[in-house]
Amino acid sequence: MPTPVLLENPLRQGLSSGRTAPPCSLVIYGASGDLTVRKLVPALFELYEKHLLPVSFNLIGISRSVISDEDFRKKLKDFLAKAKPQFSEAVWNSFSQNFHYIAGGYDDFKVYQALSARLDELDEKNGTMGNRIFYLSTPPNVFEVIISNLGAAGLAKEDKGFSRVVIEKPFGHDLESAKELNVKVREVFKEHQIYRIDHYLGKETVQNFLVMRFANSIFEPIWNRRHVDHIQITASEDLGVGTRAGYYESAGILRDMFQNHLFQVMCLIAMEPPVTFEANAIRDEKLKILQAIRPFDEHSVKHLAVRGQYGPGFLAGQKVPGYREEEGVNPKSNTPTYAAIKIFLDTWRWHGVPFLLRSAKRLPKRTTEAAIQFKEPPNLLFKNNLNTLTPNVLIIRIQPDEGITLKFDTKVPGMTMEGRTVNMDFRYGTSFAEGTSEAYERLLLDCMLGDATLFIRGDEAEAAWAALMPVIHHWETTEPETPFPNYEAGTWGPVEADNMLERPWRHWRKV
Ligand code: BG6
Repeated sequence: MPTPVLLENPLRQGLSSGRTAPPCSLVIYGASGDLTVRKLVPALFELYEKHLLPVSFNLIGISRSVISDEDFRKKLKDFLAKAKPQFSEAVWNSFSQNFHYIAGGYDDFKVYQALSARLDELDEKNGTMGNRIFYLSTPPNVFEVIISNLGAAGLAKEDKGFSRVVIEKPFGHDLESAKELNVKVREVFKEHQIYRIDHYLGKETVQNFLVMRFANSIFEPIWNRRHVDHIQITASEDLGVGTRAGYYESAGILRDMFQNHLFQVMCLIAMEPPVTFEANAIRDEKLKILQAIRPFDEHSVKHLAVRGQYGPGFLAGQKVPGYREEEGVNPKSNTPTYAAIKIFLDTWRWHGVPFLLRSAKRLPKRTTEAAIQFKEPPNLLFKNNLNTLTPNVLIIRIQPDEGITLKFDTKVPGMTMEGRTVNMDFRYGTSFAEGTSEAYERLLLDCMLGDATLFIRGDEAEAAWAALMPVIHHWETTEPETPFPNYEAGTWGPVEADNMLERPWRHWRKV
């Protein structure tokens, strides 16, 4: 019998497992900050436990606080020991043996020279082969100075091994500053060395958009304006601004959640199939979506975008303060903590289909999801059941309770022709033995492997800012249409957001 020829599907190549990173050193700027302690090091520890970290691995933390290597390790360990139910001291000790710390100002060139010498020494001692990743987890105002100093110290060169830079969000404050930052980074690093992070792309369920859409054939024929009525993307948070008022006051919800996370999710839902599963092929398609966003103008922005700010209210039975009463917030602040935007994509596939994007702080619960609502059948036969039948909706739950639900109508058992909407459910938690990984695990590993698929390219970052700037500009130069605060903490946001849906069958989902 002839051996069957198995056809290689290029889209399946990306589904491979067995990924162990090559030897390397990771340098974290902003090493004493929250992100390093709460996210980056725990993610590295998980990778270590899963045997996905290279055998030779150095971590060098850099920040301004003057502490010893020992204090640095202790701070990281104390957090993990509390946060992780089965924390093992022995595993930690072997994991952290190559952790080091350098105290110094980000503008002090001597610190970069010291770093360069230390990296050479560690390469020699631990066999890390000159492979380096520089992770900028600092406030954005020092990104440029760190990058230019890395360049001046010769640390961006790839003569011995690879040199990569990871840039945390926010990538710029507006279109102009994002363009400037791109220019500055590219003066030192080439695009293939630059990893602009958006942790949403590292979420298992967000990556699943690609597999769901392009490894199945049943969705594609209905994934367009002929069958889809509208799409809702919601990222609701129950928390308030917490201790981040300093940053949030100048960012607001559009910069914090839309320019990056929500736009990226929209791109993955809306993009055309890429020609291969390569980083640039995927990013080319995402870029086209960002460029297809119908431009907002002074007139359209008024009925396509609704802003809000939370006042005092109740969450889980507890009284919580309004945004203006939070520590560090200007008591007259007009910073939006809620936004709902109706976006049209001027493409053949999506012409006329609204993408309704919504995100806010202090809503009743923390949920992130995308819901694709399909059109009603052309001729409704079951007119007596109009109150119990609803249009089909495919809901992709990004977090929590990760999974997918399809809502469809079915007959209630019995002698009458009564219909009701039911759910068909897929849950990660019950379908797979392994839990979903934290976003930073995947992203750190991908960066070590040189896979930029889940990172944002410079032109994407600029296109996202370009699309959003008219809304940001309008909101920053005009008073809110209804005086802030205009929604109570613990409620679903300002009522004005309901009016933007325009059609009686469109409702914001109470997720
Ligand atoms: C961050 C924002 O990027 O994402 C935060 O700065 C927000 O304001 C957070 O709370 C939400 O992330 P996640 O993973 O909890 O949905």
